Amino acid sequence: MVDSIEYDLLIVGSGLAGLRAAIAAAKKSSKLKIAVISKVQVMRSHSVSAEGGTAAVLFEEEGDTIESHIYDTIKGSDFLADQDVVVRLCKEMPQEIYQLEHWGMPWSRRKDGKIGQRMFGGYSFARASYAADKVGFYEMQTLYDTCQKFENIEFFNEWFTTSIIHDGQRFLAVTAIELSSGNFMAIKGKALIIATGGAGRIYSYSTYALSSTPDGLDMAYRAGMALKDMEFVQFHPTGILPSGILITEGARGEGGYLLNNKEERFMKKYAAGKMELAPRDIVCRAMMTEMNDGRGFDHETGVRCLKLDLRHLGDSLIKEKLGAIREISIKFSGLDPSQELLDVRPVCHYMMGGIHTNIDGATELQGVWAAGEAACNSTHGANRLGANSTSECIVWGRITGELAVDYIQKTQITTPFPHHLVEAESKRIYDGIFRGNGDVNPYEIRQQLTDTLTDKAHVYRNEAGLVEGLKKIRELKNKAWKHVDDKAKEYNTNFTNVMELDSMFRVAEVVLIGAINRKESRGGHARTDYPTRDDSNFLHHTLAYYDPKEPIMKKHPVTITTYKPVERKY
Ligand code: FUM
Repeated sequence: MVDSIEYDLLIVGSGLAGLRAAIAAAKKSSKLKIAVISKVQVMRSHSVSAEGGTAAVLFEEEGDTIESHIYDTIKGSDFLADQDVVVRLCKEMPQEIYQLEHWGMPWSRRKDGKIGQRMFGGYSFARASYAADKVGFYEMQTLYDTCQKFENIEFFNEWFTTSIIHDGQRFLAVTAIELSSGNFMAIKGKALIIATGGAGRIYSYSTYALSSTPDGLDMAYRAGMALKDMEFVQFHPTGILPSGILITEGARGEGGYLLNNKEERFMKKYAAGKMELAPRDIVCRAMMTEMNDGRGFDHETGVRCLKLDLRHLGDSLIKEKLGAIREISIKFSGLDPSQELLDVRPVCHYMMGGIHTNIDGATELQGVWAAGEAACNSTHGANRLGANSTSECIVWGRITGELAVDYIQKTQITTPFPHHLVEAESKRIYDGIFRGNGDVNPYEIRQQLTDTLTDKAHVYRNEAGLVEGLKKIRELKNKAWKHVDDKAKEYNTNFTNVMELDSMFRVAEVVLIGAINRKESRGGHARTDYPTRDDSNFLHHTLAYYDPKEPIMKKHPVTITTYKPVERKY
């Protein structure tokens, strides 16, 4: 029989949302046993790559308002955000900035000593709190340090969670593989918080860590929870060539320009009021249009790009405020931004969609919450504003951590544990995936899958391309790709790759079907064949439920409390 261990609260994912949840839960109860389970080492969680800022209103005395943060976020979302959720984010965020500071976060400072905030796209006020351009790294360090103060938080680093075990009504356990030993186990718990981050590695050209695959989303989906709004994928305007590593929006927040091959700041044609600091969906569409119309540059790698000009910011500002992107540009592109123009193009950066939750982060399965990018509580609707993601992780990390403790304290599980489900999962993994013996190289399949998404479901999409993309993904899935060459137990990365790939098929399918069904353009979903927003037919969220044949698609209402949808102008 498969071995098992037992905790009270399981948190899968050790990024900002997972760590913030662990601290909130541990603060609320020193008695509960909390396990943070992650397929990577904590400081390799993708949150460390967040660069430019965390949004919060800190300076009402200088004219900023919570109301303005709320409206900017809703307008940025192309009116698909749930407005009550946005209100909660914007109201609860300021205290979290100070809480982080009290835990040791080294925020950059203004001359008067107050926390530094910079401009980001789509905002009416400079409200992205920053720590040079390593915001995520410092936030992660601050939270990880803080976790060390609590004896009841235990870390399971490099454990790959494979499935959720439940009795049809409520959560009972997860199954996981300890990567260092290859041992497969059940980890029982009363409550689960899924904080596994985004899944942007279903695209080839991406700012995400290589580990950002959809295994967390997929285990929720297979366990019966809906994935919501997965057709809304965010592209970031400035991925640097050739790798796609993020060049923070903070670079434009500090005054950087985008240029076409006529040396024009082309954004004046698309968003004259905000220029390079329009929301990301608008800047990306402008960039693709410029390149498609022949005003891009041909990069030596064969792709088209535009230029990001930071030279006028000066060497000292770049070193002080944009030191990380300076180093990235020099190391990965051979270009010094204080002297040279950077080669940039839109790159997959964020998923507005995720596991369907309510305003509290509760999923449809009792005892399971989701927080951060893995969740879709509908804060960001069809397009997220930069700097609102780390904020969401922190706010809903805390909310879900506290609510999970309340639930655990009043929950008694008396039914016998369903060992047969753990045994079935073991069979799915070891007979279905590990021992599968197709002859197609899974790395090639993975590359073809990510290339298909990049080709067919990019900034601009259309029916023919999306349908072709779906056909291709299904063909790849049906090839005899399932095999693991390396039969070692310990650190079998070959095996991990195949498990990740297994989840990528299902989630890519949901992205494509959602995009095919949404016959309008809204936020990050720009259909060339349906170029306008259609509120009469599509002002709704998309839900996808797992079925072995194909996803079952449903609609879910958008919560509109105060702001009626209007045309977005910047
Ligand atoms: O450009 C950036 O620094 C990204 C921030 C974000 O996605 O929130």
